[in-house]
Amino acid sequence: MKYQYKDMPESMKGTYGDYSRNFGFSWKEFVATVPAPLFLVTTYKSNGLPNACMQSWATFTSADRGNGFYAILASVNKNGHLYQSINETKEAVINFMSEAYHAACMATIHNNQSETDEITASGLTVEKASWVNAPMVRECFMNLECRYVWEKEIVPGDDHVMLCLEVIGIHIDEEHIADRTGDSGMLYNIHYQMNPENVTKTHHDYAAVLQRKIDVMEY
Ligand SMILES: Cc1cc2nc3c(=O)[nH]c(=O)nc-3n(C[C@H](O)[C@H](O)[C@H](O)COP(=O)(O)O)c2cc1C
Repeated sequence: MKYQYKDMPESMKGTYGDYSRNFGFSWKEFVATVPAPLFLVTTYKSNGLPNACMQSWATFTSADRGNGFYAILASVNKNGHLYQSINETKEAVINFMSEAYHAACMATIHNNQSETDEITASGLTVEKASWVNAPMVRECFMNLECRYVWEKEIVPGDDHVMLCLEVIGIHIDEEHIADRTGDSGMLYNIHYQMNPENVTKTHHDYAAVLQRKIDVMEY
């Protein structure tokens, strides 16, 4: 048996799943709950200080007939430092953290002041990127140096944009390249899953790692 939901179930009315529309979330996001990779995007602010922004509404793809690899950040807040700084410098680094550095990366959200080096203030180490004008985070196991390609509003006039970045170069830790999954692998964001048939007062966000299930063999 499958439940079907087209309009917001009565049980969700008045809950976080309802009023978080004010923060830009549809109730459907909490019912469908599609996990997405979690990473920290680093740029230089106009004053030259490192900016860091957690992002998770995102995916990656090749394009241009295999000549390029691209990140699509699906929902970047136009009022944030990331949007402002990337439009100024046109360059950024996407940093992937393991569980061990999740808390430090999350601390960047509280160290979000213009006059703050958000990486150092969060207990992480700034490194200079090799090919673009952006800082990167030493403790993250993979850093993707990127260049801005385009942006688009999903719905015209929206306060968030979809941002396309081309991956110019990759730094990858030797332990991670040997084993991409497992406990210290890439984290995925699981956003506040709700069960309309059993709504409780609060729910949780989780960060998860992948587990290999099926070997689909060589091709
Ligand atoms: C798990 C997680 C995922 C997030 N994903 C996004 C995202 O995809 N887009 C976005 O605009 N903000 C996202 N945020 C919120 C920003 O990280 C946060 O508002 C940040 O402080 C903005 O930084 P900035 O001002 O440097 O842009 C996320 C926050 C968390 C905790």
